[in-house]
Amino acid sequence: MSTPSPIDARAWRYLAAHRVARLTTIDTNNLPSVVPICYATDGAMIYSALDAKPKRVAPTALKRVQNILNRPDVALVVDDYREDWAQLSYLLVRGRATLITDESEEHARAVALLRAQYHEMPIEDQPIIRIAPQHTRFWESRPDATDSGAEPARRLDFAALVRGRRSVRAFRPDPVPRALIERILEAARWAPSPHGRMPWRFAVITRPEIKTRLADAMGDTWQQTLAMDNEPPAVVAKRLANSHDRIRTAPALILLCLYIDDLDHYPDAARQTAESLMAIQSLGAAAQNVLLAAYEAGLDAGWMCAPLFCPETVRAALDLPDSLVPHALFPIGYAAKDPKRRPRLPRDELVVRWE
Ligand SMILES: Cc1cc2nc3c(=O)[nH]c(=O)nc-3n(C[C@H](O)[C@H](O)[C@H](O)COP(=O)(O)O)c2cc1C
Repeated sequence: MSTPSPIDARAWRYLAAHRVARLTTIDTNNLPSVVPICYATDGAMIYSALDAKPKRVAPTALKRVQNILNRPDVALVVDDYREDWAQLSYLLVRGRATLITDESEEHARAVALLRAQYHEMPIEDQPIIRIAPQHTRFWESRPDATDSGAEPARRLDFAALVRGRRSVRAFRPDPVPRALIERILEAARWAPSPHGRMPWRFAVITRPEIKTRLADAMGDTWQQTLAMDNEPPAVVAKRLANSHDRIRTAPALILLCLYIDDLDHYPDAARQTAESLMAIQSLGAAAQNVLLAAYEAGLDAGWMCAPLFCPETVRAALDLPDSLVPHALFPIGYAAKDPKRRPRLPRDELVVRWE
């Protein structure tokens, strides 16, 4: 769009990462009227459809429309509330609203932008509210998470979060803000665990020299293993180089370790094995929290099982105590490109019995 926008890139990213706002219009008695609206943005304008949901009156007779036709000054608030008050934020947009009722190219473009929210619902024949922003104010309780140029959080509902997460194996070099790593670890802390004993501990590695030390040490151990398997040297070299690069170039690494000292101890092997398995199952829950929290925070993560095959090497490289058993390494950062999605089996094949 050629219209100059008074909104900076961060505010637009915030707008683009959300779908719902509160729209305030002014009625003929000069009283404010507020409604929640779904919107979409093209980076210059904000659009909201007058959809075909059942309403008491025709779309153009809606109070917000009448108010806009009478006085185009509007205010829009998009906000995030979290129980963790370090994660509060809102964007206030003041602007002028117009109704696009014609069959213009802009109307068609706005419909296309809004389509993601409206799915099958017909909006093509409905007028659309266009808001031209004139002034914005962005506020957040902890600015360090977005000031660094990091992507804003993906504000996803649960289904979108679970389905959207994917394993990413190549990252852009951009650093991961410390606040986001703290958010990921906070999510991990709330995983379920046997007897509530929390048999997981985490090591965070962001310093390049430590990443390289870890990658070198793990590579040396793996090389010996691959040599035992009689793999062709070219294959060994390629696999080692890929693994080394993944560890060395990930902006951040989170190592997930099993910590068994606080678990129950049994005299018989069967119960002891079950106890250990429960702890490892709980590692999986903590791992999923890590992956989902990273994705929700606008990041991506991968899962490397390599530490499981060389726990002593990892412990030595990171100077970790013997009580910790390294199990998984999560490279974390911003995806270099969208990876191919692994298909899933249909639900019916996974559920073996339902009566
Ligand atoms: C226990 C476990 C170990 C894994 N180890 C590796 C690994 O060493 N290297 C890797 O690239 N991906 C690893 N993955 C990721 C899987 O390959 C990935 O989750 C799977 O292909 C599905 O793809 P998605 O995560 O993108 O949905 C591991 C996953 C799990 C649960």
